[in-house]
Amino acid sequence: MERWKPLKIGELIARKPLIQGGMGVGISLSSLAGAVAKEGGIGVISAAQIGYKEPEWENNPLEANLKAIEKEIKKAREIANDGILGINIMVATRFYERYVKKAIESGIDLIISGAGLPTELPAYISGSKVKIAPIVSTLKSIQVISKYWERKYQKQPDLVVIEGPQAGGHLGFPVDELEKLEKRNSYEYDNEVRQILDFVKKLERKENIKIPVVVAGGIYDKKDMEHYIELGADGIQVGTRFVTTYECDASREFKEAYLNASKEEIELVKSPVGMPARGLKNLLVKEFNKPDKCYQCIKKCNPAEIPYCITKALIRAVKGDVEKGMVFCGANAYRANKMETVKEVMDSFFGKH
Ligand SMILES: Cc1cc2nc3c(=O)[nH]c(=O)nc-3n(C[C@H](O)[C@H](O)[C@H](O)COP(=O)(O)O)c2cc1C
Repeated sequence: MERWKPLKIGELIARKPLIQGGMGVGISLSSLAGAVAKEGGIGVISAAQIGYKEPEWENNPLEANLKAIEKEIKKAREIANDGILGINIMVATRFYERYVKKAIESGIDLIISGAGLPTELPAYISGSKVKIAPIVSTLKSIQVISKYWERKYQKQPDLVVIEGPQAGGHLGFPVDELEKLEKRNSYEYDNEVRQILDFVKKLERKENIKIPVVVAGGIYDKKDMEHYIELGADGIQVGTRFVTTYECDASREFKEAYLNASKEEIELVKSPVGMPARGLKNLLVKEFNKPDKCYQCIKKCNPAEIPYCITKALIRAVKGDVEKGMVFCGANAYRANKMETVKEVMDSFFGKH
């Protein structure tokens, strides 16, 4: 008997309760998201500087990003026409509202937003059927967003993503806490997960609605998945494991950097945007990415004060310059030892359904 069930987010039903985490810059675009959606999971495109390949990019990053949102959603639909597609748009992003509206216009099913709490998201989606999910890392965050949405918009999240300390990219914890958690066993964070699940269960009863919860961060295989399903999660969100798939949108060199990485080479870095992040050890990033212009990514960044430009560092990496670029990854990236197809990854979690 399988312990997992399809993931229901209102009228959206994913045959397999797996959301592929949005990965910027350019790591999860239409090819990866489309393949995951086709296999019965939820494929997620990352909106972070999605337009970096467009001709407008250097002169008008906003226009390039808007154009690419439409293009990538369309291409992912062509791969998985009846699959479920989401987009990850970080709250900290400049022009957040414009990207949200463009994604809705382009027919996205689900918007997932972290790197801050998406306080005004219900206003931006009003009149559409799109589903919305905050990414939270603490009980406090889900309590705040749920109360705020209820009071201002009479709305609750359609889905909650709990992202733990083993995730890749920018993380929602202070560095000292991450370091503490890293030293202890990997299930240290379970207590917070339980409290969030408990809070959501009570909310469901109070509002008489169903709010599915998925857990992200360090889930690499079926055993990791079963651990969270046993805790009471409705599903999982997985990022790192999908990077070493043939369908992933990153360059071959980026994927090889994962295949070659040892545990010791994965470290916490202080991103110039003020949040801690996890990536591969790399001493050259700062030297080669001095900010000479601004690509308008994060609201709070001040180009005059930062040691290097995170947009430039991430674009270098996705294109294949893994020495001078920033290779984000989850704590489990060292477990990657072979290239796989998305179908193989999905089957390893769910069997051949
Ligand atoms: C290369 C990479 C880039 C990521 N970029 C983003 C991002 O732009 N926005 C975001 O909310 N999460 C981002 N994440 C987090 C993932 O969506 C996902 O939740 C997380 O990595 C799950 O943990 P796992 O990688 O251990 O499976 C990124 C993760 C990786 C590995």
